Amino acid sequence: MPNILITGGAGFIGQAITRALSDNPNNHITLVDNLTRGRIDADLQSVLDRDNVRFLQGDITDAAFFDTLPTNFDYIYHLAAVIGVRNVMEKPDKVLLVNAVSTLYLFEYAKRLPNLKRILFSSTSEIYAGTLKHFGITVPTPETEPLTLDDITSPRTTYMLSKMYGESIAFNYGRLYNIPFTVVRYHNVYGPRMGFLHVVPEMFIKIRDNDTIDVASPTHTRAFCYIDDAVASTILVTEHPQTQGEIINIGNQEQEIAIRDLVRTIAKVMGKSITLNELPDTPGSPARRCPDTSKIKLLTGFEPKVALEEGITRMYAWYKDKLDSRHE
Ligand SMILES: NC(=O)c1ccc[n+]([C@@H]2O[C@H](COP(=O)([O-])OP(=O)(O)OC[C@H]3O[C@@H](n4cnc5c(N)ncnc54)[C@H](O)[C@@H]3O)[C@@H](O)[C@H]2O)c1
Repeated sequence: MPNILITGGAGFIGQAITRALSDNPNNHITLVDNLTRGRIDADLQSVLDRDNVRFLQGDITDAAFFDTLPTNFDYIYHLAAVIGVRNVMEKPDKVLLVNAVSTLYLFEYAKRLPNLKRILFSSTSEIYAGTLKHFGITVPTPETEPLTLDDITSPRTTYMLSKMYGESIAFNYGRLYNIPFTVVRYHNVYGPRMGFLHVVPEMFIKIRDNDTIDVASPTHTRAFCYIDDAVASTILVTEHPQTQGEIINIGNQEQEIAIRDLVRTIAKVMGKSITLNELPDTPGSPARRCPDTSKIKLLTGFEPKVALEEGITRMYAWYKDKLDSRHE
């Protein structure tokens, strides 16, 4: 009967992982979230109604909070963080505080867990942004790419810095205290319940309201990974013996798509005929961003299953009636 702790469990990826794990009645899941971004909406409530899920509202930057937790966890998914471009620009202090301190306290707490089999630390593709900007980068990008910190004076750098720090905590606490861990670097996960500050939900609204859509950097490519694939691969790497102590890209290398084709696909799913107004490339926008996902395939055999059009179709089915209730 595995006991599982999920930090940031009310958020986009956390709720989806909880739903998948709690489908197995043997799993006992404790969600922790301070609800700064996560919301107890109908989706989360339907998960919290399950007998094998309990919710604790708490702030994991408070060291004393960890003293209230039991010490019988087998797995920890550490997803709590302050994320998103707007937060990073407006609240870089919170990014530094929450993302660094919560990870430090979590690994301090992990020293006291006798049954712990794995901590999953959620890092990001953003960690490659400094290398990409200053030196150019291998695309598709493997986990071995050297990391470069961008301008240390910029608030934008706080997010990548906090995630680099988190990865370093995982490796060094892991080695010193025999704490088993896996680091995942998520690349552009999309799906229902991801909020409205992302290209796909933003496009749902733009396309609904306009017949002509401005598209900057139309030929630049990005690779999007549907939430169900992100969830399945996250659970797999957290439980798999070969991924202990490893850094793993989570993304969908097969679905790299030009921005203009992404917009056309979204319009097709919405059943709307649009005209594209192609604009020049945005300065600083990289021509390609795509993870190399051969490592996860090699170690676990995992391959993503949801193609972009199918993912957008499922996502639109969820968003369709909610487009006027935008929130962060
Ligand atoms: N969504 C993506 O594509 C993506 C990409 C790269 C990395 N990630 C990483 O994956 C993780 C989950 O991302 P997400 O998209 O689900 O984010 P999210 O914002 O939806 O979820 C994070 C949750 O953490 C909670 N939280 C914040 N501070 C807290 C605190 N002090 N104590 C307790 N809870 C707190 C928030 O309320 C929120 O519910 C993050 O660590 C993020 O950096 C996500």
